[in-house]
Amino acid sequence: MTASAALKPRTPAPMVEGEFLFTEDDFRKIAAMMHGEAGIALHETKATLVYSRLAKRLRALGLSNFQDYCALVAGPDGLDERQKMLAALTTNVTRFFREPHHFEHLRDKVLPPLLAAAKSGGKVRLWSAACSSGQEPYSAAMTILSLAPDAANLDIKILATDIDPNVVADARTGIYAESLLTGIPDDYRRRWTTPLAARPGSVQIADEARALITFNELNLIGDWPMKRRFDAIFCRNVAIYFDDETQARLWSRFAPLLPRGGRLYIGHSERIAGPAAACFEPDGITTYRLARELAR
Ligand SMILES: C[S@@+](CC[C@H](N)C(=O)[O-])C[C@H]1O[C@@H](n2cnc3c(N)ncnc32)[C@H](O)[C@@H]1O
Repeated sequence: MTASAALKPRTPAPMVEGEFLFTEDDFRKIAAMMHGEAGIALHETKATLVYSRLAKRLRALGLSNFQDYCALVAGPDGLDERQKMLAALTTNVTRFFREPHHFEHLRDKVLPPLLAAAKSGGKVRLWSAACSSGQEPYSAAMTILSLAPDAANLDIKILATDIDPNVVADARTGIYAESLLTGIPDDYRRRWTTPLAARPGSVQIADEARALITFNELNLIGDWPMKRRFDAIFCRNVAIYFDDETQARLWSRFAPLLPRGGRLYIGHSERIAGPAAACFEPDGITTYRLARELAR
């Protein structure tokens, strides 16, 4: 080796080949930020996905490599871009009446006694804890309306939250392309969606369904302002992106927010593990009932 070759700084090997240099060090920094900000565990097998989703951001920002992108998102002016990175790297896939057995369980087992109590002045509280663009809480709202068309006059509320402000803003509008309505039973669709004359091919969810839901941003690994309990919590298809420890902490935080007999609906490939597992009993497919309080 010549002396000049020995002095030349070595370019680190790319982790993914492409337009922008993306090294293992860049991947590690991005994975650490995603874990710290949102609890999301990014395994190295996701390197190509990370590259392709963030390459658009580098292009938009006029950057030429991931090292500069990492410096930007980690820096004092990086908050806005950190949110964009989070939105780009989270999966928002959802559908109306996804895993329909949960809504059947809600309709047949959970809601009847709660709605009877609501008609005598009681409260009904549900939480959709990673609601994405809103299909999950609107499915719950239509299920409630199918049993209690006057639900808007009762004390019934659904809290719907997500970490991503963009999906929360979309969800709040209640506007969807007609092509996304496939899971909604026909009579529900007729009753609680209205074609929008101003936006051909789109519908809006009916006011009586929208009135039941409050949408807010909330990070499941951050602080939760809620003090009151929920009769049922939907936390589906988000814990799967967290590592085991973060998942266990999440289940333990739900337990005190449910009364005995309160239900927790989780995603089809998720399971309750850690200290909270002893508190929950199965009550159907990926449906759990709080059977005992969490020991402190
Ligand atoms: C695959 S979607 C699931 C949507 C819906 N629950 C369902 O099952 O159809 C996952 C959602 O979790 C959200 N998410 C990811 N990390 C989160 C966190 N730390 N706190 C709250 N929401 C989070 C994402 O923004 C995304 O909208």
